[in-house]
This record gives sequence, C-alpha cells and structure tokens, in this order.
Amino acid sequence: MNEKTFKITNQESGKDLGLERKDAVLGPSVVDITALYREQGVFTYDPGFGATACCSSTITYIDGEQGVLMYRGYPIEQLAAHSTYIEVAYLLMYGELPTQEELTGFDQSIRNHTMLNESFLRFFNGFDHDAHPMAMVSGIVACMSAFYHDSTDIQDAAHRDVFAHRIIAKIPTIAAAAFKHSLKQPFVYPKNELDYCSNLLHMLFSVPTGSYEVDPIAAEALNLLFILHADHEQNCSTSTVRLAGSSGTNPYSAISAGISALWGPAHGGANEAVINMLEEVGSSENITQYVAKAKDKNDPFRLMGFGHRVYKNHDPRATIIRKMCHRVLEKLGREQDTPLFELALELEQIALKDSYFIEKNLYPNVDFYSGIIYQALGIPKSMFTVMFAIARTVGWVAQWREMVRDPETRIGRPRQRYIGPAERNYIPITNR
Ligand code: CMC
Repeated sequence: MNEKTFKITNQESGKDLGLERKDAVLGPSVVDITALYREQGVFTYDPGFGATACCSSTITYIDGEQGVLMYRGYPIEQLAAHSTYIEVAYLLMYGELPTQEELTGFDQSIRNHTMLNESFLRFFNGFDHDAHPMAMVSGIVACMSAFYHDSTDIQDAAHRDVFAHRIIAKIPTIAAAAFKHSLKQPFVYPKNELDYCSNLLHMLFSVPTGSYEVDPIAAEALNLLFILHADHEQNCSTSTVRLAGSSGTNPYSAISAGISALWGPAHGGANEAVINMLEEVGSSENITQYVAKAKDKNDPFRLMGFGHRVYKNHDPRATIIRKMCHRVLEKLGREQDTPLFELALELEQIALKDSYFIEKNLYPNVDFYSGIIYQALGIPKSMFTVMFAIARTVGWVAQWREMVRDPETRIGRPRQRYIGPAERNYIPITNR
C-alpha cells in the first residue's frame, strides 16, 4: 500500500513531526498520530470517536455519504438478494464466499454445535421470569467461558475456530431459552435438520404439546434481517468487543460485553424504542406534535429509528428492509400490526419533508422498520434487541478474530483531557 508521510511541523521548533498518512483501499486515508504525543506532548481529542480510526480492517466498508455498505467488498444489496445468513457468516469470518463444499462443511459444523450444556438451564432458573432477555443473554454468554475450556486460548487458532462456530451456533439457542423462560414455558431443544433461521423460529415458538410448522416467509424475513445486521464495522458494540478483547480476555466475555453495549437505545435497543414511540404517538393526528418534540432542543425526545452516525444520505439496510416489511405484513401481519406500519410510513414521510431532518441529514435507519417485522412474526418487543444480537454475533466474532491476529493490536487504552481540580491538600474532616 502506498503510504505517505504528512508534513506537520511543530510551530515552535519547526521540527517535522513525521506523521504518516496511510491510504485506504476505499474511503478516507488515516493519519498515524502515534508520534504526536511523543514528539509534541499533546493528545488528540475526539469524543465519540467520530474522526478516529481505531484499526485497519478488511471486513466491512461503509460510505455514509453515498449510502453504501459492503461485506468483504460485496454490496449488501447483492448479498441480501442472493445469499443466506450462514453463507454471509462464512464470508465475514473467512474473507471469501465459500465453495459448495466449504459452505456445507461450515453449515454442518454450526448445526452440530447448537445444543447447550444441560447445566446452562440451571442458570435460567436463577432469573426471575420478568428479567429482560438481554440481561439473561449477556449473562449466559459470559458464563460460557466457565464451560468451554477448549476454546478460550486466544493464541491457538483451533481454539479460536471452535469458539467462533460454537458461539454462532449457540446464540440462537440461548436467546430462545431466555424467551421461553420469560414465558414460563419449557425450553425447546434445537432441531438440527432445520436451517439457522427456521431452527430459531422453532425454538422460539414450538411447544411440546403441539406441532409447529415454520412459515417460509418468516424464515426468509429473518434470514434477510440477519444478513443486514451481521456486521457494521466499528460501531459501539463492535468497538466494545475489540476493546474488551484487546486485554486478552476470553472471547465469550468479550462478546458478552458487546451484547451489553448493543442494548442501549442509541444502538441496538432502538428497534424496541421505535415500537414504543409509535405506540405512544398512537395515531396520525399526533405526528406533528411528536415531530415538534423531536426538534425541540429543550426536549430530550428523539425520533427513534432516525439518524445515524455514519449514514448521511440513506441507510441502505433501511431501503431493503422496508420492502420486506410490506411483504411480511401482507402475508403474516396481524390486524394490529398494519396500522402501526402505516403510522410509521406516515411519520417517515412527514419527517423526510421537514427542514430540520433534511438539514441534519436524518433519515430512517434499519431499526425504523425491523421492529415492525419482528412484531408481525410474533416476536415481542423485549426480544427485538436479542434478535439483533444473534445476527451481530458473527460480526463481533469476525472483528475479534481480525483483532487477535493483527500484529498492530495493543491493549486499547484511550487517554483523556483532565479538567478536574489541580493538586490540593487533604482537609481533615473537622475542618470541612
Ligand atoms: N431525532 C431528532 N434529532 C436528532 C435525531 C433524532 N433521531 N438524531 C440526531 N438528531 C439531531 C441531534 O439533536 C443533533 O442536533 P444538533 O446538531 O442541533 O445538536 C444532530 O441531529 C446530530 O445528532 P448527534 O446525536 O450528534 O448524532 P450522532 O451521530 O452522535 O448520533 C444516533 C447518531 C443514531 C445515536 C442518533 O441519530 C439517534 O439518537 N438516533 C435515534 C436512535 C436510533 O435510531 N439509533 C439506531 C441507530 S441504527 C442501528 C445501529 O447501528 O445500532
């Protein structure tokens, strides 16, 4: 790669700081500022990391201005139209689309790892039934390191592979178990003859007393949602996985940290927040009032499912998912889902024409629609972010694997600008 040196000089000494520019294959180059503190004694300051690249990566590329998302160079639109979640998982993890033989082997390995160690069921019983499924899932994933000792040596490539296959295979089983626990229903074992998404639907919705047929449109919709959510370069939860993982912690703990980061309403929790918001808005006549609230600087309310740190034109995932929303509602929608979707479409149209949203480049993101699909599939709000976590697990794993093997990886340790009191003397309590 063509790497150039930037001429940035110290104004006092006139000394060249020798900062290196490293070009990217696509998108902005970066300036390697590691010499800055050594030479100049200053840190860079970038709250929210909006202008800071924390690693070099070969996995996912986003062009926020053009609304482009690619996994390993393949546009998301092509993957969404032609691929499966398992094939995309292979692509993200290993860098290339698999041959038929490679895909069959990978798929088989994932199917073989779906069952949970039976002792895990005791953990679920430790939770009250009203525990949020995200709390259960992040806790159980962290506990996996206590069980699977053959996959926690991160320097061992075989351990890393077993870990990767195991977590991708078991995360739907864990998620479904959390769901069943919250319903006070018996846990349903995976059926390995089913594909990844059908198996998840089976574990979520079948009961031992009846038969359950997976609806193909439900499996297709999940497959699409999972492809769209599989990775999104250095977002909050992925950066959390990388940061936690950079200390050398066991990989299950790093993934559990990512799940916790995903839960927030500014990130993966937005899909749940969108439905809450639409229910609160209630009907068309209230839209103007809520749009006004979202624009009011003194009101913390935001239009959930709108805006994105990187996409400033449109979120390509939202365009794809919007179409699927129509199909799912046509085929599966319950009476109560359609008005919510219509309200969402109306809100979308009003916001898209509003100068506040236009000027700030605020467009609907993927989560504006994903909750509506989940709801039509019969998945309750409390499970929406869990569904996102299942899909994103493969992205976290791929990024973690890349980080572990990257010779430039050091423990992540940001610096700070200290603005607290300067040195002062301890005051005895009687004098305070
Ligand atoms: N409604 C109203 N105003 C908004 C919104 C919104 N949804 N999003 C941003 N703004 C305003 C914000 O008030 C700020 O205005 P000003 O410049 O006058 O202070 C400006 O737009 C820039 O916002 P920001 O918070 O500085 O932007 P950010 O890049 O830090 O935040 C975001 C991005 C996604 C957290 C934010 O747009 C947001 O809170 N959206 C709602 C939550 C949401 O839908 N999150 C899901 C993201 S997509 C799924 C995922 O990747 O996890």
